[in-house]
Parts: sequence; structure tokens; C-alpha cells
Amino acid sequence: MTFRFFIIGLLILASCNSADQKDASDLETGKDYPAYGGNKANNRYSPLTQINSENVKDLQVAWTYFANDTTKKSGRREIQCQPIVVDGILYGTSAELNLFALNAATGEQLWKFEPISDKIHSNRGVMYWENGDDKRILYTVGSFLFAVNAVTGELITTFGDQGKTDLHEGLEGVGHETKDLHVTSTSPGVIYENTVVMGSSLSEGGDAAPGYIRAFDVITGKLKWVFHTIPQPGEPGYETWPQDAYKKIGGVNCWGGLSVDEKRGVVYFGTGSPSSDFYGGAREGANLYANCIVALEAETGKLKWYSQAIRHDLWDRDFPIPPNLTTITQNGKRRDVVVQVGKDGYIHVLDRDTGESIFPVEERPVPTNGLPGEHPYPTQKFVLKPKPLMKQLVTEDDLTDISPEANAFVKQRFQELKTAHQYQPPSEKGTLLYGYSGGAEWGGNATDLDGVLYQNSNHVPWELTMISKKERDEELASLSPGNILYLKNCAPCHGKDRIGNSTVIPSLVDVGKRRTESEMNNIMKSGNGRMPAFPYLSDDHRKALIGYLKNNEIIPPKRDNEHSTKASEPISNAEFPYVPDYFMQVWQRFTDQNGYMGIKPPWGTLDAIDLNTGEYLWTIPLGEFPELTKKGIPITGTETYGGPVVTGSGLIFIASTRDERIRAIDKKSGKVVWEYQLPAGGFSTVITYEVEGKQYVALAVGGGRGAKPGGWYMAFALK
Ligand code: HEC
Repeated sequence: MTFRFFIIGLLILASCNSADQKDASDLETGKDYPAYGGNKANNRYSPLTQINSENVKDLQVAWTYFANDTTKKSGRREIQCQPIVVDGILYGTSAELNLFALNAATGEQLWKFEPISDKIHSNRGVMYWENGDDKRILYTVGSFLFAVNAVTGELITTFGDQGKTDLHEGLEGVGHETKDLHVTSTSPGVIYENTVVMGSSLSEGGDAAPGYIRAFDVITGKLKWVFHTIPQPGEPGYETWPQDAYKKIGGVNCWGGLSVDEKRGVVYFGTGSPSSDFYGGAREGANLYANCIVALEAETGKLKWYSQAIRHDLWDRDFPIPPNLTTITQNGKRRDVVVQVGKDGYIHVLDRDTGESIFPVEERPVPTNGLPGEHPYPTQKFVLKPKPLMKQLVTEDDLTDISPEANAFVKQRFQELKTAHQYQPPSEKGTLLYGYSGGAEWGGNATDLDGVLYQNSNHVPWELTMISKKERDEELASLSPGNILYLKNCAPCHGKDRIGNSTVIPSLVDVGKRRTESEMNNIMKSGNGRMPAFPYLSDDHRKALIGYLKNNEIIPPKRDNEHSTKASEPISNAEFPYVPDYFMQVWQRFTDQNGYMGIKPPWGTLDAIDLNTGEYLWTIPLGEFPELTKKGIPITGTETYGGPVVTGSGLIFIASTRDERIRAIDKKSGKVVWEYQLPAGGFSTVITYEVEGKQYVALAVGGGRGAKPGGWYMAFALK
């Protein structure tokens, strides 16, 4: 594809907006894009109208900025960051977590801040705060929340300890020892007045730190309050756990981000599952406040209300996005609501003051045939409206029909797996379920002023197979250390036969020929795109793994019921708070022999849902596999990672697809009115803003996810 490179003449920075124009709930302005999600309500709505469905075809590349640091050999390219724009300056991060400021009209770099850290992880965005001349960017690198001067790019050394605050703060001294456990934050927090409220990203195994919500002072970096998402003795909700479970159970974190209603002074967020994912033998009970939508007083952290979506989660159904605070009309009355969408595709529309569901919800009995020692919760809630974004169950009728071979291939596997119910507890035989990786994912969604929600979603069934600790230990006893490490840590994604999975996870067969030892070492140490870092692997562990990958002995692929792969518990000398009796052994997309989804398309969609009525207005497949389209297969949609923005002129801009395109969609008709082939995948959320009377549409084009590398930020504008 040709990649056009346009530079628009230097523009003088836009005149300063007053502070109140950056108010989250003020949707009338919209020149800026001052917060993650467009505003602190996470509406991803911009009132700008210059680009409309008539002239959108004339969009051109306005500027391109290469964000990544090629001197750092992480090899990482994926950029999940949804940048922000304040007063004509765009703030974003690179794959190596450098922070930069650009002239938002030209892409010219104003400054770059390079934190010293060997921790590389995803970063989805940064926060802006100002008071007079004191202008700050806050963002997370490794376990630290940094405060950087937004004008100069210098560290604000009066914040925390020489410019940074340790995100382990407030986790210590209550439950278990947490200081060496993995704690970071891949999504930004949210700022209310002088308080920054932070979620976290953690391990989801037995070594998980607790996911308490913490608030820090924006000026000093000092801890202000802690909300125990896993209640302590004497706190409400403690009774939904076994006694003292909080001493060893972690998780129940908010990794998807938070929203704040500045008028009410209330912060809203969705939580994830408790540790360990997929096995809850040590946590009998409903497990509050896991898998909840929670409202806290932003100033104090005091609980206002909660609504639990899933009891005793055994399926890793974390809430992946910040709630969207919008307003709907019901019986002629305006009603402020909080909209939380899940990986399971359910859309929870709740009253913002009470947490009460706007639409009917039913509690129904669900299967309780769990693994030995498990206590599946006997009932679950079913939201009756809007209907979930994707099917909840795979039936034989749903199996792929893109070719007879594909159908025969998946049918055989399908017959071996348990699929009786959407809340079927995990098993050793294998379960086929939706909801591990969207439904909705971290890219978020957009709502219009008229209460219509635009949400992209994945229609991907996953195979989950568990293995007992005892069986796994026996199996591992006969293998080489490198092989064991591989099976425990790498096989869930790269496969026990190393051939990768679908179009998302690369094969590691022959990786020794493509990558040097030091590159492989760095990838494991620091992560790379969707590939997580393995901070707990020692030098010796990494050496053993590299030896194993290089000598390239292939374990023959066996798709029968044999237990020969991994479990999520790392081999390490670290003392984990707790070791579960069962581990996830296989966790992979249910695909055909070529890596396409094992079900009939669509595999990825964009939906418009009228939240006033709970009805779907339209659904389109989003993204295509050109090689399938050529064969005459209707556009299938692809998995999407990244999200939409909706504008005052009725356009939705979204990239996120495997075909590496950005599209504009007419919000009324659901028709694609513009598309552009990006130089690499734009697995990020699109933003829009205005500088000097000109509207721009911008996004990070990081590439990665097993596809080609990128590393750019790009902006589009009319000529
Ligand atoms: C959660 C899924 C996941 C796990 C677990 C995982 N990887 Fe990866 N890995 C990926 C993805 C996705 C990529 C592609 C990264 C990208 O381009 O964004 C990747 C890329 C790699 C690469 C680079 C491949 C290339 O073609 O250049 C190496 C080497 C690698 N992984 C090794 C490992 C090892 C060793 C382990 C275990 C210690 C491991 N991975 C565990 C998902 C995973």
C-alpha cells in the first residue's frame, strides 16, 4: 500500500482554553480531547462537525510521527494508547513507554520524556491536570505513577518520591505481602479535582496482588484513600468470602479504567475477577466486589453503591472498559445512567444514583458441576435488555461454513468439548465459551447525546481446559527444564506445538532463526506488544527457555484429550500467597485449520444500540480478510482491538481491525463512508480534535499483534 506523507505548514499553537472548558461533562466544546475516552465521562463523543459524510472522502494524511525508540531493542511495536489533546498539544506514549508532546496540527515533537525502566507493558493513555501555570501529565510506567510537567516534559520532583509514586502503596500490610508482586496500570486513572483515582493491572494467578482502588493527591503524590475491593473483616461484603480469604486472594482490580461524574463527585468503574482465574476452590461465595460496577465518593473513597454482574467468576470475565456516563430518555424524562459493557457482551445500563438496572434483570439457576473443590455459584444474573453483543453459546449449527474442510475440522473438536451453558464451569475435558477476550474489549465504546451506544465487539469462542496440580506435577517430572518452563508459561498462547494460534499469536517454530538470543531474552523480560513480560523468570529460566526454543525440537501436536500442556503458575522461587489445586491448561481461540474462527461469521461487529429503548439499530461486520472476500465469502468482520469515536456530524471513526484500516461510518445507516489502508494495524482508539479551525482525526498505528510492526501516530484532515 502506498503510504502518503503530508505535512501541513506550521501552525501557531491554539489559544489557551479556560480550565472549565476541560470539564468532563461539558460536551459543548470539543476542540480538545482532554481525557482518556474524550472526557471524564468516557463518552468518546466529540461535537465537531467539519468532517461530515459528504466530505469525509477527501480526508488526507495531515501528519505522521514515528513514536518508537529504535535504539531500544524491545522489538515491541503495538501501541494501545488513545492520545489526548489539550490546547493544541497532543500527548501520547510510545511502545517503550516514552511520553511525548506534539504540535497537534503538525506532528512536530515539542518534547519527549524517557523514563528509566526496564518494564515494558501496554499503556492505553495518560491524564492531564492543570491549575494556573501548573500543568501536569500523569501516567504509569512499571509500578510507578509519574508526574511530568506538560509544558517542558520534565519530571515534577515534588510529586511522590522524586517525581513518582509506587503503585504498591495502599496494598501493603492488609492482606498478604505484596511488595514484590506485579502491579502496574495499563489504563490511565481518572482525575477529580486534585485527586487521581487509580485502578491496576496484576497477575491473575496465585501470585496476584489485591486490586484495591487507590487515590493519590495530584500535587504531592501522597496516598489519599484506599477502597478494599476484597473486603477486610468488619467491612460490608466480607461475608461473601471464606474467613481470611483476603490474606491470600488477589485480583478484583479495575484494569479497564474509570470514569468520574464531576457534578456528583462520584467515580465509577468495573472490576475484574478474583484470583485465580478459572478456579475458585479457595474463595467459596459470591466474592464481592469482584465483577461489579462500583460507585465511590471521589473525595473519600466511600462506597455509594455496587451492582455485581457475575457471582464467583470462574471465566475471567473482567470488565474491560471504563463505564460510559451518559443520559437517556425514558417516559419523556431524562435519566443519567452509567453504561458498563462486559467481555461477555452484556450491556448493563444502571441509574447513576442508585445502581438500579434500567432494564429487567433475572436471577436464574446455572450449572454447578464444577471441578473438585470448586463451589460454582448456583445462580447468575441475566440482563434481558439490551440483548448481549454476541451469542452466549456455540451450537453445532453455529460451526463455520466458510469451507467444508473448515466445518469438518471444527466439528470434531466441538464434539469433544462441553458447551452446555454459558455459565458452564471450567473442566478438565474442556469447555467452549464466549467472553474471555470480548465481546467488548479495552478500546471502549462511544455514546451520542441522543443515548445511542456504538460498540465494537469480538465474536470469538475460546477453548478452556483445566489440569489438576497433581497431574501437572507428574507430567512435568519427565520433561527438560526449558520444556517445562515453556509449557507452563508460553504454551497457553503459542501452543504446546509452538505453532501459535489463529492470526494473532505468532508461531515460535524456527524463532531461533529469526531472533537473536538477546532479542528473545528482552522479549521475555520486557514483553512485546500483546506478549506479556515475565518479570518472575530468572536469568537461568530465560536461558533454559531460549535453549529449548533454539534447539527447536517439536512436540507433536495432539488435539485429543491428552493433558500435555501448561498451567498458569510460573516456576519460580517466589513464595506465592497461594497455589490453586487446578490450573488453566489450554486457553485458546476455537479456530479452523487455517486459524480463522471456528464459527460462522461475523467474527467482529460494530453495533448501534439505542439505550433509550434497549433495541439494536444496526449491526455491521467490521473488518475483513481480503483473501476470503476474494473467494466470494461475504465480509466476515475480524477481531477488533481499539475503539470508536462519534462526532457531532454523525460519523463514527474506528480502526482496530486485522485488515489494518481506519474507517468512517455513518451513524444513521451503519454504512462505511470512508476507509483508508494504514501502514500497519491501528489497534488503538481513534480521537478527534480541532486546532486553528481545522478538525483532525488521529490514532496510534502501532501494528503488532502478530501482524506487521508499526510505531506511528497519524492524523488526518481535509485539504
Ligand atoms: C498471553 C499470550 C502470550 C504468552 C503467554 C507468551 N507469548 Fe510470546 N508472543 C505473544 C504475542 C501476541 C506475540 C506477538 C507480539 C506482537 O507482535 O505484538 C508474541 C511474540 C513472541 C516472540 C517473538 C516472535 C517473533 O516472531 O519474533 C517470542 C520469541 C515469544 N513470544 C516468546 C515467548 C515465550 C518464550 C513465552 C513464555 C515465556 C511467551 N512468548 C509467552 C503472546 C504470548
